[in-house]
Amino acid sequence: MRESPAVNATSPVRKAVIPAAGFGTRFLPATKAQAKEMLPIVDKPVIQYIVEEAVAAGIDDILIITGFTKRSIEDHFDRQFELEQALAESGKDAQLAEVVDLADLADIHFVRQGERLGLGHAISVARKHVGDNPFVVMLGDEFMSPRADLLAKMIRTHAQYGRSVLALQEVEPEEISRYGCAKPERISDGLVQILDIVEKPQVSEAPSNLAVMGRYVFTPEIFDKLEHVEPGVGGEIQLTDAIAMLLADQAVYGVTFDDGRYDTGTIPAYLETIVDLALERDDLRDDFAAYLRSALDRHGFA
Ligand code: UTP
Repeated sequence: MRESPAVNATSPVRKAVIPAAGFGTRFLPATKAQAKEMLPIVDKPVIQYIVEEAVAAGIDDILIITGFTKRSIEDHFDRQFELEQALAESGKDAQLAEVVDLADLADIHFVRQGERLGLGHAISVARKHVGDNPFVVMLGDEFMSPRADLLAKMIRTHAQYGRSVLALQEVEPEEISRYGCAKPERISDGLVQILDIVEKPQVSEAPSNLAVMGRYVFTPEIFDKLEHVEPGVGGEIQLTDAIAMLLADQAVYGVTFDDGRYDTGTIPAYLETIVDLALERDDLRDDFAAYLRSALDRHGFA
């Protein structure tokens, strides 16, 4: 069944869920005893960029799905009186303000996933907290530049149609088998209705080169679908399979974007993100650019 686009009254999106319970095996041994989402990008952990992105889009209630190695995430968003006192005594006022403000960024909650049964399962753990409300999902190993304004656009699209909205980015055709892939029907510039979705398709079978990236606005009906999904690719409960089931009942939309995504989920992407963000920092860029030039020279890339 294909539901036609319809305008629906909907409650505002106030809650975000950040799944951050994965093993982060691609970063072992760094992630043996700490969360991949706590790896630093210049001077902030990845998850802080994500929380700031949520807050900038008007979200004030954030649920982080954590696991065994995730205590440091909870500590990061909490007060740390000993540190605050030490900073105050040594007159480090800017750093003091920064660590105090961090604990006030949003209303942040935590729940543990228990068994790591995949991304879809991690999101299903949020059901009780989210209740019967639309909500945002932000994957814990990527973040968007504020200049993209992606999440706010997705929330506006949800407000217009009352339906789920996915973030889509074109990738090189040969890369599509690393992502969820959408079959789109154009509505307007930057907006499509999604007719079908498949997880990690073979290049020859991909319905498009539009990849689903780690930002979603969901109607609460996604939870019913997650409950009924069988383990899929890699034996995990796949979010993509639940979205495919949702598509049979409700229209799902896609907002396309082409710039501003920072991936930290693989070692090459993590290194690229660090270099990009360091070069965007006024206090670092000149010296760092000079260092990069000399390093390329020294390593024979001139
Ligand atoms: P990934 O598959 O990229 O993360 O999931 P991972 O499993 O930690 O990474 P590798 O493959 O072992 O290196 C995307 C996001 O979903 C979360 C992860 O923490 C990550 O932020 N996730 C994944 C969960 O919360 N639970 C899971 O069972 C799986």
